[in-house]
Amino acid sequence: MTESPVAPAGPMTPVVFPQNRTCPYDPAPGYDPVRATGRPLNRVEIFDGTEVWMVTGLAEARALLADQRLSSARERPDFPVFAKRLVGVERRRVELLGVDDPEHNAQRRKLIPGFTLKRTAGLRPAIQATVDRLLDDMVAQGSNSADLVSAFALPVPSIVICALLGVPYEDHDFFEEASRRLLRGPGREDVEAARDALDAYLNALVDRKQASEPGLPAGLLDDMIGVFDDREELVNLALILLLAGHETTANMIALGTYTLLEHPDQLARFRDADPAGVSRAVEELLRFLSIADGMSRLATEDIEIAGETIRAGEAVIFSTSLINRDPDVYASPDALDLTRTDRHLAFGFGIHQCLGQNLARAEMEIALPALFRRLPNLRLGVPADEIPCKPGDTIQGLAELPVAW
Ligand code: HEM
Repeated sequence: MTESPVAPAGPMTPVVFPQNRTCPYDPAPGYDPVRATGRPLNRVEIFDGTEVWMVTGLAEARALLADQRLSSARERPDFPVFAKRLVGVERRRVELLGVDDPEHNAQRRKLIPGFTLKRTAGLRPAIQATVDRLLDDMVAQGSNSADLVSAFALPVPSIVICALLGVPYEDHDFFEEASRRLLRGPGREDVEAARDALDAYLNALVDRKQASEPGLPAGLLDDMIGVFDDREELVNLALILLLAGHETTANMIALGTYTLLEHPDQLARFRDADPAGVSRAVEELLRFLSIADGMSRLATEDIEIAGETIRAGEAVIFSTSLINRDPDVYASPDALDLTRTDRHLAFGFGIHQCLGQNLARAEMEIALPALFRRLPNLRLGVPADEIPCKPGDTIQGLAELPVAW
């Protein structure tokens, strides 16, 4: 275990959240002053100068994410907005992720049967078949090079979530593009238009399912229609599942590939791994990459923690990239070590802990080994430093990943 340098608790130049990563797998260097304090909670600023708390200690993050005095309700007028492009975006209810208990619990309980370990295990043969087919297609196109994001990393989770929900995959160009605009703008108008377009699409899909249109794939959405009476709630939930189901894992597959290619010693270990070793490696990649970097909450009461008081009305950000490299918990936290067995917070903690984590794990555990088995000479198609990271205010990953084999 490494000793964290503890700086005197004096004023530091304000760090602004979020910051862009410069290396796709390392925390943004702009957070270095926060790390250097050695304190598990620090004050940082958001773009408009408002001060918020940034949590970087694992123990404190667990305690706070389990604390019901921190709210996730995004429609609260004082819920913090961290990206400039989201200022003025009409606040709509974000189901599940943006709802507190007891409503959250009621929604989650109805969705859990679709995401159990058993249900996900049943999807593994279909995921394997999808992965193998996509790799066949990559090889068959004959050029020995491709953009791994569009050829593999995005289609894998996109096809899988479509099959799970019963959404026609032929509509993927539409919903992938709309999800991109909803998450990354660039402008406020893009975010609102994307949200409206996805709403309209899913509403129409529910109508088509209720009218028993022949040829539509069946899935979880059909079960949800029977369970959620409120149409707005149903459509909003479908939106969260569709979006979270493809955007997140796609980033993990692309970034995981990049990271392994940049760590040849670990890649060699990965190639030789048995299923338990692959599963450990995927957990370490989740920790190391921490793609959901910045969960947010709002304090509804004063909370005392780690010698600090979070006041009612103050916002709290959980930086998973720093929490998952807490030097008090992880030995050599900045090293990728696929034999590590430490737990991590990449899927969150507490009541909102990722509902799709079993699915995400299954996809990564199948996609990554198959990719390196099928394309043993896989390498980056351009120098590593020419591959740009996604901006810091969204799910972390790579927009493109040129590869050759
Ligand atoms: C590797 C990929 C993924 C990562 C890193 C990830 C990460 C996360 C994190 C950190 C949270 C907690 C957010 C918070 O507390 O504010 C979360 C929640 C959630 N995730 Fe994932 N996720 C991934 C894949 C998926 C997939 C494949 C689905 C499938 C539908 C999914 C569905 C959800 C849902 C529905 C929630 C909200 C749960 C709730 O509020 O009860 N995620 N995810």
